[in-house]
Amino acid sequence: MIKITFVYDGKSVTVEARGGETLLQLAEQNNIPLVGGCGGACLCGSCFVDIDQAHANLLPETEFSELDILECLPMYKPTSRLACQVVVTPGMDGMIVQIP
Ligand code: FES
Repeated sequence: MIKITFVYDGKSVTVEARGGETLLQLAEQNNIPLVGGCGGACLCGSCFVDIDQAHANLLPETEFSELDILECLPMYKPTSRLACQVVVTPGMDGMIVQIP
């Protein structure tokens, strides 16, 4: 199993993933309060998260449509991603996902 930790509201919650689901789907499956306003269609930016630096470097590059939304958000950093666009893989074991 792949372990991913979500950090939000001063809490840190580690969940297990099988792989193949998005970070947004994983959060929803585990009652983590991450909003997917457009249902994962990469249209709204509500699923904005920050990934720990080490794992952010391992993720596939952002697609143009994701980057387009990220760059419009005031909290955008190079480690920011849209959770609906990040598919969980075994290389993400130990990843820390901050929900602003
Ligand atoms: S849910 Fe809307 S961009 Fe991710």
